[in-house]
This record gives sequence, structure tokens and C-alpha cells, in this order.
Amino acid sequence: MAGSFISMISYLVTICLPICYNNALSVSVIFFLKLMQVELAKRLVGSSFADRVFFSNSGTEANEAAIKFSRKYQKHTCTEGKAPATEFIAFSNCFHGRTMGAVALTSKVQYRTPFEPVMPGVNFIEYGNAPAAVELIQQGKIAAVFVEPIQGEGGIYSATKEFLQSLRNACDEAGTLLVFDEVQCGLGRTGHLWAHEAYGVFPDIMTLAKPLAGGLPIGAVLLTERVASSIKYGEHGSTFAGGPLICNVALAVLNKISKPNFLSDVSKKGLYFKELLKQKLGGNPHVKEIRGVGLIIGIDLDVPASPLVDACRNSGLLILTAGKGNVVRLVPPLIITEQEIEQAADILSQTLHVLDANNSKCDDFASMLSLYVRRVCGYFAI
Ligand SMILES: Cc1ncc(COP(=O)(O)O)c(C=O)c1O
Repeated sequence: MAGSFISMISYLVTICLPICYNNALSVSVIFFLKLMQVELAKRLVGSSFADRVFFSNSGTEANEAAIKFSRKYQKHTCTEGKAPATEFIAFSNCFHGRTMGAVALTSKVQYRTPFEPVMPGVNFIEYGNAPAAVELIQQGKIAAVFVEPIQGEGGIYSATKEFLQSLRNACDEAGTLLVFDEVQCGLGRTGHLWAHEAYGVFPDIMTLAKPLAGGLPIGAVLLTERVASSIKYGEHGSTFAGGPLICNVALAVLNKISKPNFLSDVSKKGLYFKELLKQKLGGNPHVKEIRGVGLIIGIDLDVPASPLVDACRNSGLLILTAGKGNVVRLVPPLIITEQEIEQAADILSQTLHVLDANNSKCDDFASMLSLYVRRVCGYFAI
């Protein structure tokens, strides 16, 4: 369809002023550029287990949609006279977002308790404890199991193949859905386009966000046809999700990161980074473990990592904490060079001494103030 249109929809009331002086033209351009969304959905489907895609604006919204889709699927497939499964399983150290459903699935109590009561029916099980999860799934009340193949915010913990496979088998037997949250670990970060590819275990639903549009707000829920066919048109939706600009950017990102050479480079750089860190930091008594895969790496410390975060920042290196504040989280851009990796490892090794008891005391006003500001900001943003 081509030509111009007189709009009585203002692109679902989001446009109060025309983008150009011909309102009809601008609106028709936006309306039909929805085709970008279709292109992006096709690319996501073509490169994954999924048959259908729902777009959102963030990771938490993607998980919120996955919660709704799981509930709807259970209602749709439930045999007559039986109550549909409505509960969920999530795991220790997990993070799924901050909206009311996603925060209910998030294990850190400080994110949940200020807003209770949150969505009921979430069962937390220790990450990796397959027998406990299987036992609960077999009881038939679980609509879906939410799991990060590699936990980011929780402290860079990787699932084992046995754990994910046990979840998959138990879900298949009980009619429970398996949801992989790859908001942080997906899209090339592990050296695979999808983190779960390394395990050969596939979900019914996968949620994505963060890097998909190179930093612009987007989220996506990838679903099998079996799940998607239980959702009727209009049962869930979003005004801004999957807009043409963002989808176009996401297509460019996806085209670049899904190239085999790009992904194998991420793997190589990740191995090199981990090896360097082991060489340079491994002997330090505060370093308990260096773990992770590809370019999602954690340095587990026996003390809080915050003095190291400050010292690295003062030396030109930006790092994050994870876990209970004792894990250094390294999630560099996937285009980082080997030289930059070497610089980062050098700065970490040169600043590590701040973790020694005497140095880590906040004995001057400036460092106490910096700690306070970071804690306040950290409360609102990861
Ligand atoms: C695994 C995981 N899921 C969900 C989210 C929430 O994403 P967003 O901040 O885009 O809502 C995050 C954010 O850090 C995350 O790491």
C-alpha cells in the first residue's frame, strides 16, 4: 500500500505535532515503517529456536510479558475441570527486573521487600539445585521456570548443562514452560549468539533487551509457536515497542554480532582476558575465583569490591560490582581490543592492593562521600 493518508490515530496518540509539515505523510511513513519490526522479528526467528517475537521497551517488560504469556499458555492448555498452573520457579542470585512481576521473580530481597506484596506464587530454589526444582515442577503447579543461563547481576554464575537439561526434561513432562532470561548474557556476550547454545538446551521462551539496539530502549520475547498460539491478538501490547528507528538499529546490531567471525573473536578475547586475569591477579589472597565465559567475567573477592571500583575508576577503568558486592563484574563492549584488555588487566593488578585491610578503610572524607554517592545511585540503577 502506498500514498498518503489522513490520520485519525496520531500513531496511537503518540504524535501531537507532525514530524514534518504534512501530518498525513509523516504518520503514514511511521505506520508503514512498522515493516522494520517485521524484518527484525524475521532475523530473530531465523537465528534462534523461536517462531514468533513480541517486542517491548526493556528487559523487565520482556520478562513481564513472558510471565503473562506463561500464565495464558497454562490457561489455554489446561484440561477442563483442572486449575491451571499459575506459580513460578526462580533461582538464588537471579535478577529479572524491577516491575511488579519481574521483581517478584528477583531473588535479592532489597529489590522486593520495599514494594511487597509483589506477585504471589514465586518459589526460589538454589541456582543449580536440579533435584529440588524437578521435585517442585512435578507437583504440577508451576506455570514457568525462569532461569538465566549465566547470572550477571547475581555474581557471574554459569549454569551447568546437567542443570538446564534436568529443567528441560521436567518441564516437558509436567507441561511447564522453560524461560531463559538472556537479557544480560545473550546476544553474543558469551561468544555464542545465545548463551544457551553452548548447552544445547532450548527454552520455550527467551527474553532479550540490553544490547539489542546498541543502547536504545528495546526488549524482545522470543516464543515457540506452541506458546504463541495461546495468545490472542490484543491480549498484550505496547505503544512504543518495536518502533522503526529502534528496530532498524537492532537489525544493524544483530547483523554485526551474529557473524561467526565476530562471535569467535568474542570467545578468543574472553579466554585471553580470563587467562591474563588469572596470571596477574590469581596470586592475590583476596581473589577467590575468576570465572565466566566470553566477555562476561567475574572476579570473586573475599572482601567488598567497592574500594577497587573507585581505584580503577581513578586509573581510567570502569568496572561494576555484582553478587553481594564482593564480585567484580567485567562486561566490556564486544569490540574491545586485545590491547585494551591488557590495559584493563594491568590497571586491575596495579590497584588490587586497595583491598588490603589498611588501605580499604574509608579513612578520609572524600572516599566516604564517594562510597555514599555510589550506594545511593546504585539503589536506583544497576
Ligand atoms: C538478566 C536480567 N534480566 C532483566 C533485566 C532487566 O532489564 P531492564 O533493566 O532493561 O529492565 C536485567 C537488567 O540488568 C538483567 O540483567
